[in-house]
Amino acid sequence: MITLKNVILRRSAKKLLDGATVNLNPGEKVGLVGRNGAGKSSLFALFNGSLHEDDGDFYVPKQWRMAQVAQDMPETDESATDFVVGGDTRLTELRTTLAAIEDAYEANPEDADIGMELAHAYTDLADAGEHDAVPRAQALILGLGFKSHELDGPVNSFSGGWRMRLQLARALMCPSDLLLLDEPTNHLDLDALVWLEAWLQKYAGTMIVISHDREFLDAVTNVTLHIANAQLTRYGGNYSAFETLRAEQMALQQTAFSKQQDKIAHLQKFIDRFKAKASKAKQAQSRVKALERMEKVAPLLAEADFTFEFKEPGNIPNPMLSITHASFGYEIEDAEPKTILRGVSRSVLAGQRIGILGANGQGKSTLVKTIAREMGALAGEVTEGKGLNIGYFAQQELDVLRPQDNPLEHMVRMARELGSAVKESTGEQALRGFLGSFNFSGDMVKQPVGTMSGGEKARLVLAMMVWQRPNLLLLDEPTNHLDLATREALAVALNEFEGTLMLVSHDRALLRSVCDEFWLVGRGVVTDFDGDLDDYQRYLLDEAKRQREEAKIAVREAESATAAAAAAPPAKASAQDRQQRSDQLKPIKREIAQVDERLAAAGTERTALEARLAQPLPSAEIAEAGKRLKALNDEIGRLEERWLALSDQLEALVA
Ligand SMILES: Nc1ncnc2c1ncn2[C@@H]1O[C@H](COP(=O)(O)OP(=O)(O)OP(=O)(O)O)[C@@H](O)[C@H]1O
Ligand SMILES: [Mg+2]
Repeated sequence: MITLKNVILRRSAKKLLDGATVNLNPGEKVGLVGRNGAGKSSLFALFNGSLHEDDGDFYVPKQWRMAQVAQDMPETDESATDFVVGGDTRLTELRTTLAAIEDAYEANPEDADIGMELAHAYTDLADAGEHDAVPRAQALILGLGFKSHELDGPVNSFSGGWRMRLQLARALMCPSDLLLLDEPTNHLDLDALVWLEAWLQKYAGTMIVISHDREFLDAVTNVTLHIANAQLTRYGGNYSAFETLRAEQMALQQTAFSKQQDKIAHLQKFIDRFKAKASKAKQAQSRVKALERMEKVAPLLAEADFTFEFKEPGNIPNPMLSITHASFGYEIEDAEPKTILRGVSRSVLAGQRIGILGANGQGKSTLVKTIAREMGALAGEVTEGKGLNIGYFAQQELDVLRPQDNPLEHMVRMARELGSAVKESTGEQALRGFLGSFNFSGDMVKQPVGTMSGGEKARLVLAMMVWQRPNLLLLDEPTNHLDLATREALAVALNEFEGTLMLVSHDRALLRSVCDEFWLVGRGVVTDFDGDLDDYQRYLLDEAKRQREEAKIAVREAESATAAAAAAPPAKASAQDRQQRSDQLKPIKREIAQVDERLAAAGTERTALEARLAQPLPSAEIAEAGKRLKALNDEIGRLEERWLALSDQLEALVA
């Protein structure tokens, strides 16, 4: 049992816990929740011994093995598999012991005691799961979204987000009695998140997880520990149960109810707007669910003094931007560029709210980064509307903050870079006021960013974005680190935002409450996703199944190819073979070119039609344009299917 009795915990001048008393029982799955900066990560530091209580008693059973995710970026050229196997500390210890005994045995093979020790060491290793350590590690790695050809890739070769996933896999690999997870979902996509939920549901030990994702918490916890105002309170039940309980408590106090009513009315307005459209009925339904949830949250929100809004964008071009027969991907030095998405022809209209869905590594970020001008299109064009002002929020944005500088210095520098003269007195005062509206008040505007909590940093980046008054918001996982009240505030602000929104997020609640339509990035193309998030979850499962089958077929083919190669003496491909193959390739290549061309033309026509439909038109014309649009969409769908089938054929022949 973990016990805290009258614990006082400080960080600099801040008192994070003031007389906390709580017990956690073995086997409990605990969600640790609270506002950004409340002290959750600091409490973990207390649990793992890197921070000590300033007063009171704190106790964790000494024999408990503790596993947690290392927060640093791993720097090693060890393979991903070996790195994760290394997370099994017991196995590593036993291997070291065995090696020592083996040495002793070699030096002294007659010694019966050493012989015994050796036998024990072997059985211990077997008990620790030595024989299946590699497949166990690989199951974790694959579950977290890596591809099978990446299993042996050196850790260093992966990008930051993916290395953090390996850190998570390493922690899960470690046999433990107590598992500490500090916002484990931040670096995950929706599909990896769903996998992690399933894994944690089977975990047998005691788990404490910090998260701001209510659906995730509901799926994996049965006790909730709430930290607020330096108090720690234990609630039996998952997050929703905690919300209900706490909401009841707060409702008793009759706290600012009118604020809550406003927010509900707001969501209701959106539901009403969409109910009228038969095609959107499903999405309206999801919002009804969101509303049901919100009714419980709202009294909780009343204590959150934080709301903000995006400023009204001055001028909104329509279309905001048009993409015509474009290919997106990466330039590679001295090699063919790596194309991730092709045949992309779409336009983004004023006022659209697009959720961008897609499994791991399918190119969501490539799409977003290209639109944000962080990278160029490989082919085709991205045409921006006049006056387009993109507000881009990317996960790695937190890295752009300077740890030594405080929030005010960040704002001043940004204002200068954007060319607005900041007069030392009034300008700074205005920026302080602005930071205040984002809950950076008093001392915090002068606190070095490096000592701030994750959520505080994310809030600062958000504030800096709002200040720039964008008309197209391009948000790539904006809610990471943000607490629920701030997410709720973000959702409200996004609903009120008058410009266009494109959102990549694994936060299902946010996607549900702010997006009207979805794009699906997958299998090399961007398509409309006709359905809601539940349909999407099913799609992900099907997709995972398809990939597994494909992998199986590939293995089988490789095996039979090796068998054939072993049976027959290796022969060099004769000139005749080459000729034959090129003859087979030609018609496929020709048809691909034709399909590409037709796709491009259809895409251009669609973009033009969509733009026309965005203008006021006589109803006869609308009907006709609508019909044509439908026909085009169908044709594009068919062409894309054909394109995929052809490129599969091509790949099979070339391989
Ligand atoms: N070294 C430090 N010096 C001063 N203040 C600090 C220091 N470290 C943390 N703090 C402050 O202590 C508070 C608690 O930080 P902590 O990281 O524990 O919060 P948290 O609950 O994990 O928040 P989040 O949800 O944003 O991760 C924050 O307000 C933070 O700014
Ligand atoms: Mg934290």
